[in-house]
Amino acid sequence: MYGRIKETAAWLSERMPNAPQTAIVLGTGLGYLTERIEKLLCIPYADIPNFPVSTVEGHAGQLIFGRLGGRDVMALDGRFHYYEGYTMQQVTFPVRVMYELGIRTLFVSNAAGGMNPAFAIGDIMIITDHINLLPEHPLHGPNIPTGPRFPDMSEAYSRELIALADDIAAEHGIKVQHGVYLSTQGPTFETPAEYRMFARMGADAVGMSTVPEVIVANHCGIRCFGVSVITDLGGMDVPVKVSHEEVQLAARAAQPSMATIMEELVKRV
Ligand code: HPA
Repeated sequence: MYGRIKETAAWLSERMPNAPQTAIVLGTGLGYLTERIEKLLCIPYADIPNFPVSTVEGHAGQLIFGRLGGRDVMALDGRFHYYEGYTMQQVTFPVRVMYELGIRTLFVSNAAGGMNPAFAIGDIMIITDHINLLPEHPLHGPNIPTGPRFPDMSEAYSRELIALADDIAAEHGIKVQHGVYLSTQGPTFETPAEYRMFARMGADAVGMSTVPEVIVANHCGIRCFGVSVITDLGGMDVPVKVSHEEVQLAARAAQPSMATIMEELVKRV
């Protein structure tokens, strides 16, 4: 496994046009940001040795090297979800490769269902912590020597970056929520009983991504910052239907604010 990570990193390091220390996983809600990146080199995942290949039709995925807010950045345009059938090693492979290439700060975004009664559809939630309910752990197996066998997770999401994001949001008049993100494997949305259970467990939002990447990033000593767009509110008392289309629509509305927060953060880290 580590050999393949090193091999892919070596292949990319011969081609990369700059030396970013910051990476962005362009999840749901970050379409605007993708457009704002001045692209120096885009490599389709299918061309990168050992990279998993996306199963989503029409969105094959690419690795972007570019500039954002005057800084060098690397961006994953297209991520891998466990529910698609990838192993956790595949889901987190790009993060491991990015660490080898020099990435030390990671920004991630996702769409999530809100359970906190103070939340509204379209809210941006800065992730303060997470609960991992995925059925397979991304660090399962022989320890890769980028970090300890038993990694500390007391600050999985950098408090410094959260404070910085709060400042940026206040300066730009963007309303943000804070909360705990819980990841299930999906692909089903939750039953009303599951939304209630997750809320009681201490989660404010639920989704199907992010946690594996953040765990592996922490294992590499990469500091993380994550945001969720609240695209629906779990029908905890009265069942409410949730659809992929609604999720995409709600996420789209939050894009300009998400992009502002991320771009300003990139400038200031
Ligand atoms: N549950 C799980 N994943 C999601 C949701 C949800 O309600 N909304 C967007 N992604």
